[in-house]
Amino acid sequence: MPTLTERASEWYELFNRYAGDLYPGRYTLERCRELAEMSDRISELAARKQSTIIAHNYLYPEFHEIAAQVGDSLGLSLWARDAGAVRVDFESVYFMGATAKLITGDDTRVFVCDAPRVLGCSLVFGTDHRWVEKWRERNPGGIVVTYINSDVAMKAISDYICTSRNAAAVLKAAVEANPGKRVLMCPDKYLGWVTRAMAGLSEEVVEIYEHHFSGFHACCYVHEKVNPASLDRMLDEHPEAELLIHPECGCASTCLFRVQNGEIPHQKAYFLSTEQMLWHARKSPAKEFVVATEKGMIYRLRKEVPEKVFYPVADEVVCDFMKQNTFEKLLRSLEEDRIEIIFCDDCCDPREPYTDDRVTHIPRSAGRLAMAAIDRMLAI
Ligand code: 13P
Ligand code: SF4
Repeated sequence: MPTLTERASEWYELFNRYAGDLYPGRYTLERCRELAEMSDRISELAARKQSTIIAHNYLYPEFHEIAAQVGDSLGLSLWARDAGAVRVDFESVYFMGATAKLITGDDTRVFVCDAPRVLGCSLVFGTDHRWVEKWRERNPGGIVVTYINSDVAMKAISDYICTSRNAAAVLKAAVEANPGKRVLMCPDKYLGWVTRAMAGLSEEVVEIYEHHFSGFHACCYVHEKVNPASLDRMLDEHPEAELLIHPECGCASTCLFRVQNGEIPHQKAYFLSTEQMLWHARKSPAKEFVVATEKGMIYRLRKEVPEKVFYPVADEVVCDFMKQNTFEKLLRSLEEDRIEIIFCDDCCDPREPYTDDRVTHIPRSAGRLAMAAIDRMLAI
């Protein structure tokens, strides 16, 4: 077991080697010592409270070092269910914690380290539930396919959930199972456009939600910054590199079009979820990769595939919501047992769930409907 000083130096070396360019100036020796000290206290409390800490790929490197599992949104929830965790502290954004609660049900206590509004997501804030309900009235029998990056209320008015791993397969299955019915895909327009094109489906069959709501576009504000120009610049600088593109990217459908018309070779560009990027990088013969997703993923790729080189597509691809998770907040959350996501007996509206500084609610009926949509995806 390394001493505190040894772990602080080990983290200092590791974080600066794999993430020094991603977060310049963040990892001083002094800060690494503070982090190592807090991690001791976190481990002690987590053991006492029977908590399993899980963290999304986009979190700061220190979370990758202490989490029992690091991964993508759906993968982590399924992992928590299969691990039979008594309690999970889910370090990510709020909708991911809520998805884990839906999937693990009453068996597992799920905590997030700050309020749902703080651990937000532009996709959640940009979803207009009423617009979707009106779409259903305009399209009787219509089918709604919703990205997992959405709140419980949106999942509850959906027929199928999809993730960035399986979006094209779910969309195809939804269309095949409902012949003649119009399908709405929401809430991410970039994911929607690229998925519809990959599934070979037409605009007549699949409509994409492109609405603006509460000041947010129907997209991930982080991936939207990855435009065709930033990708071209990186391709010029690293002509041998493969492109790993998250389908939420603003450049995704243009890039797919360029692959389809032969402008970019097929074996060069891959549209992948964060976890699929890791699987792909391990098995690809390529030695260099331009990574078009949130910077946090680069640390994981560099650490787990150290023999290859990974370039972030652009400096500004950082999710401020994910980066709200800190060791200080996780410690407070473990010490004070907050904020727990609990089912309530429909005491509130799922679009405005009751939240205080200890708990946040998922109304049980909305939770059941949301889980039915998740189950339809899992069955595909
Ligand atoms: P995945 O990790 O599921 O690919 O999702 C990416 C994302 O933007 C999560 O917020
Ligand atoms: Fe939401 Fe985008 Fe941040 Fe993911 S990266 S949590 S989709 S804002």
